[in-house]
Amino acid sequence: MPTQAPHPLSDIDVLIPVHDIHARVKGIAQDIAADFKDDVMIIPLLRGSFVFAADLLRALHYEGLQPQLDFMTLASYGRGTSSSGEVQLVKDIVESVEGRDVLIVDDILESGRTLTFARDLIKSRGARSVKIAVLLEKPGKRKVAIDADYIGFVVQDKFVVGYGLDYANFYRELPFIGVLMNR
Ligand code: IMP
Ligand code: MG
Repeated sequence: MPTQAPHPLSDIDVLIPVHDIHARVKGIAQDIAADFKDDVMIIPLLRGSFVFAADLLRALHYEGLQPQLDFMTLASYGRGTSSSGEVQLVKDIVESVEGRDVLIVDDILESGRTLTFARDLIKSRGARSVKIAVLLEKPGKRKVAIDADYIGFVVQDKFVVGYGLDYANFYRELPFIGVLMNR
């Protein structure tokens, strides 16, 4: 495992500035609040969605919701910039989702395999409804037919980092969404 970031921060260009992210998260929270009255179980998929989920949860508070929360860790194997296609359940949720209205939160919808796996698993556990919120969507990359109900931004086919998203587990701490240059 590398202990040093693979690229210096000077190799990262800002793609979506902090202010734009926060404005959009508020907009998504308003859309979610219009659809869910009060009872919603939020399930962020770790690790990439944790920053988005934390901001979204607080934005939902300002929209009057009182969501519940649990986490699921999934891995789609491969440590580089493309995944192998195989999704594995690394850590399961603790709460029961039976009869619940669930909102799955993820960082980015690309091939659709991760979210399909999560949605099917939660549905199979008897959730009453399952909706999906993603911070980012990369169009034209879908390998499985699945759509998100709430989308923050559509990004072109570049590898993005920051705001929870990583490259080799680095750059999650960046407050903005950036693009790795010189790749
Ligand atoms: P999918 O299963 O192909 O839709 O993969 C989505 C997952 O791949 C996301 O949850 C991310 O963890 C990861 N991923 C896909 N594209 C990027 C990217 O540009 N930057 C960082 N992670 C990415
Ligand atoms: Mg992820």
